[in-house]
Amino acid sequence: MKIRVLSLFDGISVGMLALKRAGFEVERYYASEIKAKAMKCSFNNWGDSIEQIGDVRNVDGRKYDVDILIGGSPCQNFSRARTSHCNVIDGLAGEQSSLFFEYLRILKENRPKYFFLENVWMPVDDQKIINRLLGVEPIRANSSLVSYQQRDRLYWTNIPGIELPEDRHINFQDYKDTDEEYCDRFMVKRTPSRERMWGDGNGECPNVTNREKINCITLKQDRWKNSGLVEYKDFCRYLTTRELEIGQTLPVGYTAGLTKNEAEDVIGDAWTADMIAHFFGYLKKDMEKTAGEQEETT
Ligand SMILES: C[S@@+](CC[C@H](N)C(=O)[O-])C[C@H]1O[C@@H](n2cnc3c(N)ncnc32)[C@H](O)[C@@H]1O
Repeated sequence: MKIRVLSLFDGISVGMLALKRAGFEVERYYASEIKAKAMKCSFNNWGDSIEQIGDVRNVDGRKYDVDILIGGSPCQNFSRARTSHCNVIDGLAGEQSSLFFEYLRILKENRPKYFFLENVWMPVDDQKIINRLLGVEPIRANSSLVSYQQRDRLYWTNIPGIELPEDRHINFQDYKDTDEEYCDRFMVKRTPSRERMWGDGNGECPNVTNREKINCITLKQDRWKNSGLVEYKDFCRYLTTRELEIGQTLPVGYTAGLTKNEAEDVIGDAWTADMIAHFFGYLKKDMEKTAGEQEETT
């Protein structure tokens, strides 16, 4: 099944990966993104098959002939990691999260058959605004069903018939890196503030040494209560790039070519590929059904 796609806030093009995993032949993939390191990663993986079209605020939705509009608009103003530390709960009115309205504008301009929008869990009042504007209720799904990462997310879409994937019971302990030479590159430098943060391994930044699931992969692992640290050589280490990639069900090496800090940033922003591929499986089914019906009537 062929598909043409307009992907807003495209990041590292996990949308492309998920479509391929769902079995699509991607005919056109227009990506709106502004972060250079994310676009570099997309290019390293997909070359010219991704057509970068720049800042979403300059995208004219009428110019693109596509089957689906996809995107996960920036979530900083909703994110629990941010709100618990900065006391900023400005939701949809916040500078980054208001980019949702660009998604809405482009959806109205383009009027594709299908749409798909992802975001973090957010206050119900904000959810209700998005529900009303898109005309659907979100599906709430946690990436822990398909990976060893807790990632509680909302998905608004008109793809019909979606059910949640079955729990694959994936345990971080089965994938934890043990190669010392590699792990040494991810040691946390001992400083008084990091010692306080690590505490006894159960302090401010939760320890995932023996846990089945890591917490949501976000930005910096030693700043907020997110992905967590692993007890290592009398102190602790960050999750390795490989562990972060697998946590998002990306192919190992997907972010090769970026520094480890760059990789951590763009992986933290990204979709969990297998969760999105699961949803796109329903899209493929629906497009095949429609194509079959059209054939019958001609
Ligand atoms: C939550 S991330 C989405 C990541 C993506 N779903 C993926 O799987 O990699 C939001 C993305 O929106 C991008 N972004 C922020 N402002 C933008 C703008 N004005 N135009 C286009 N992209 C923007 C960010 O750089 C970031 O990569």
